[in-house]
Amino acid sequence: MILTVTPNIALDITYRVDQLTPGSSHRVRRVEERAGGKGVNVAGVLRALGHDTVVLGFVGGATAGTVTSDLARGGLAHELIAVEGPTRRSIAVVDSSNGEATLFNEAGPRVPATSWDDLETRLAARLPRATALVVSGSLPPGSDDAACARLVRLAAAHRVTVLVDTVGPALLQAAAAGADIVKPNAGELLDTIGVSDVAAAATELRRRGAKAVVVSLGAAGMAAFTPEGSWRAAPPTRLAGNPTGSGDAAAAALIAGAVAGAPWPDRLRDAVALSAAAVLQPTAGIVDLRDYHRFAPQILVEERHALGLDR
Ligand SMILES: Nc1ncnc2c1ncn2[C@@H]1O[C@H](COP(=O)(O)OP(=O)(O)OP(=O)(O)O)[C@@H](O)[C@H]1O
Ligand SMILES: [Mg+2]
Repeated sequence: MILTVTPNIALDITYRVDQLTPGSSHRVRRVEERAGGKGVNVAGVLRALGHDTVVLGFVGGATAGTVTSDLARGGLAHELIAVEGPTRRSIAVVDSSNGEATLFNEAGPRVPATSWDDLETRLAARLPRATALVVSGSLPPGSDDAACARLVRLAAAHRVTVLVDTVGPALLQAAAAGADIVKPNAGELLDTIGVSDVAAAATELRRRGAKAVVVSLGAAGMAAFTPEGSWRAAPPTRLAGNPTGSGDAAAAALIAGAVAGAPWPDRLRDAVALSAAAVLQPTAGIVDLRDYHRFAPQILVEERHALGLDR
């Protein structure tokens, strides 16, 4: 059982229009509504890989019902804590003439400390039967920057492997709490540490306490900095598609690899293959495993030391 926490769950709404023209009125050709947020996407990919998962997070208002029924429809078990404000909507307007998406992301409801306490209590009840925990996405308004770090400590107390994918002070505190794996993308990592070199920033995050740092580099692939060594892997080619959620597929592969006790180069190969499969899907949180199996043997994993990339 792999638990995923999504602190700021969303209702992802996609509008399809013939052509998007700011300042004009549009006929919406199709509307899709799905449960979203990074941890939800991770759970979707883990489920495709055959893992049991439980989605934890906060929901509220009229949008909460749509989120919970979509999770149920997708077969994703969930335990959601009710908060007062409405679950945020994340609206993508897709222009059918060129496939381009324009996004509008709401901030999300305020989550008071008492609701975070409630989440910790429920997580503590589930951790004895869990193999891993993923905490993914930004913190909703009103949250303490230490919230992710508290979940990391809770998982560690139960000897459960934890992966954190977040940014800024919450990422720094999760690292300091000893997160087993953190997976920022390059921009997030560099902004958080305030330097311009990925290897230097990852090394600094490890110095602060993160056991392993996996940095996703968009179409260039991924670099892993771990106690066993450092590796880099790239997809066989730059794919055209929807990269939103590809980082979440990577997180799913990394935690699945950790649960299996796989060697780091294998985890990295799987993460690159699975995130490439995610790029081919128009919807975040969905992968076709046939794509993953097709890509995996084509991925070259190189040791950074051998490349002279480590200092
Ligand atoms: N165009 C692409 N072609 C092939 N693989 C890609 C492409 N874009 C991304 N990937 C793969 O997906 C991984 C994650 O992408 P990226 O670094 O953009 O993550 P991210 O910004 O965290 O994504 P998100 O948070 O939206 O899920 C990359 O490390 C890479 O392996
Ligand atoms: Mg990401």
